[in-house]
Amino acid sequence: MKAGFLLGGCLASLATLGLGGSVTLKDVGTTVKERDAVSGREIYVNTCARCHGIDGKGALAARLNPPPADLTSPTVQSHLDGTLFKRIHDGKANSAMGAWNYALTDDEIWDVLAYVRTLAPSRESSP
Ligand code: HEC
Repeated sequence: MKAGFLLGGCLASLATLGLGGSVTLKDVGTTVKERDAVSGREIYVNTCARCHGIDGKGALAARLNPPPADLTSPTVQSHLDGTLFKRIHDGKANSAMGAWNYALTDDEIWDVLAYVRTLAPSRESSP
């Protein structure tokens, strides 16, 4: 009974205030933070471009095996934000793509991801 009441109260405060005891902003979702493709570009140019190329097509390191992903390709761009975040955060096994969580904060990864999204070919021409 009491637990039910407490839970109900907690849910009510979640609904009304958007706050709940141990729920942090991070749990609620990173959409809360505005992603900054401009600072993301800075990070990209300094840390990612040497493999992925300034245009994201990966031309600079054609000798890597597997080659750097073409960040402009539908294969990459069709992934959900969460998937790409994890790839950048954790890296990819057996490839040159390292785990950037050691070098970048989560916010920086979201920023660089926002920049990676800008590398997608413009979709204005397609319906
Ligand atoms: C040392 C070279 C190197 C650097 C630096 C590098 N990458 Fe990569 N990246 C790779 C390679 C190689 C792959 C392809 C891995 C594969 O296909 O297995 C890759 C794949 C990716 C993918 C695609 C993952 C997928 O599964 O589709 C994304 C997104 C990505 N990199 C983003 C970044 C970002 C953002 C940075 C900078 C923070 C970065 N990379 C820095 C080498 C690099």
